[in-house]
Amino acid sequence: MRADLLVLGAGVAGVYAALAAEARGARVLVVSKDPLPAGSTAWAQGGVAFPLDEADLEDHLRDTLTAGRGLVEEGVARSILEDAFRHLERLRALGVRFEEPPAREGGHSRPRVFHLGGDRSGLFLLQALLAHLKGPVLEGYMALSLLRGERVSGAVLLGPSREVVRVEAGAVLLATGGLGRLFPVTTNPPGATGDGLVLAWRAGAVLRDLELVQFHPTALPDGSLVTEAARGAGAVLLNALGERFMPRYDPLAELAPRDVVARAIHQERVNTGRVLLDLRGIPDLERRFPTVVASARALGLDPLREPLPVAPAAHYLVGGVRTDLWGFTGVPGLYAAGEVASTGFHGANRLASNSLLEGLVMGERAALAALEDLAWERGEALPLARAEPGALEGLRRWMGLEAGVVRRKEGLLAALAYARGLPLEELAPQEGVRREEVEAGHLVLLARLLLAGALLREESRGVHFREDFPWPSGRPYHTEWRGERVERVW
Ligand code: SIN
Repeated sequence: MRADLLVLGAGVAGVYAALAAEARGARVLVVSKDPLPAGSTAWAQGGVAFPLDEADLEDHLRDTLTAGRGLVEEGVARSILEDAFRHLERLRALGVRFEEPPAREGGHSRPRVFHLGGDRSGLFLLQALLAHLKGPVLEGYMALSLLRGERVSGAVLLGPSREVVRVEAGAVLLATGGLGRLFPVTTNPPGATGDGLVLAWRAGAVLRDLELVQFHPTALPDGSLVTEAARGAGAVLLNALGERFMPRYDPLAELAPRDVVARAIHQERVNTGRVLLDLRGIPDLERRFPTVVASARALGLDPLREPLPVAPAAHYLVGGVRTDLWGFTGVPGLYAAGEVASTGFHGANRLASNSLLEGLVMGERAALAALEDLAWERGEALPLARAEPGALEGLRRWMGLEAGVVRRKEGLLAALAYARGLPLEELAPQEGVRREEVEAGHLVLLARLLLAGALLREESRGVHFREDFPWPSGRPYHTEWRGERVERVW
């Protein structure tokens, strides 16, 4: 198979990138691991954060910088926010009708989060984008490895019948999302196994700040999300004593930035045993939050009658493949956008609903940059790593215990020793390999990188809290993996 642009991943960043490339006459092939609509976008409840007008751009920027705890690259954030207006118009031209008025979420000084279908924003957005896509989507195909010579020139895919398919491409765009499935409780779909991170790393790209995993404050016991918009609409957090505790932690109470709320909930669970989210004061709850109500009912809970038990759950990878403002990874022919990428927009703690915005802006930019840079070469398939899927149960337990909301050196070291002890086999992509064992290989490898990064980050900043280093360091820094080495980069 052959395409000008090969897009791996069919969430908002991948599909919007494909639309931009198709609009310029490119032959695009989109690959989705699962049947459409798939990926984390389809599960996103909270909407898209857009600055309301030129005046609000500065406030949106300030909120992004504040939430990001000193690690946001201001030029990147400004540039993404400035582009937001154009994309809002483009989405409207594509027929996307956001609800009015926009909602308020944690860390936002104004209500600027635009929703669709109540709390089904990601799904409705993705369906609207998919309706405009002309080119083929390979559903049920997973990228096993990239083709690489002087540049990245395609990928080897694993098909639904375990067949191996080689795709030659002028450029490859990674839009494969995050790695939430490394944790025992996550808001992410089953496919969030960090595939693109491993592909990029093996091709020579830099992985940055992998330890910066954002924990969503309010997930139900099975990881189902209770969107932050529910707190924006008036839901309150209570501890086991029935006390509304958030005002003690932050003047913004339930609408403090996500890192603050997640840590407060963690603390109250330690102190009092459990935390509940009371949604009963929200008028019209079932119409406004149908997904939340359905998820609760599936667990035998009724949010109209009782507060829901909630806890933080792994939600979003703030770090990722380092890219520039055009989604370029530094490896010729390889681009990345969306959750898999680290542009510098989110700093050390992503502001709620900034991710779909980033996916749109960076998806389009990466597609345009890739089209400027098409070249044809026959590369060799890079090796893949495989592990026993059964190994993940123990690994996830360690990640939940030692790499969660609160971390410390001894625990991180023990978890790292465990991850390093798990067998990982390297092999060339071949017929018959199973998706589950490649995903397990990705997660074992990423656990090792993430834990080593968390050890190296001897500070507390944003989503990364170390009991043994409870303060931020004097100067913010990134952790960067280049090949087998990790280092701090100021
Ligand atoms: C949510 O709905 O609370 C999640 C939104 C986000 O992660 O940005």
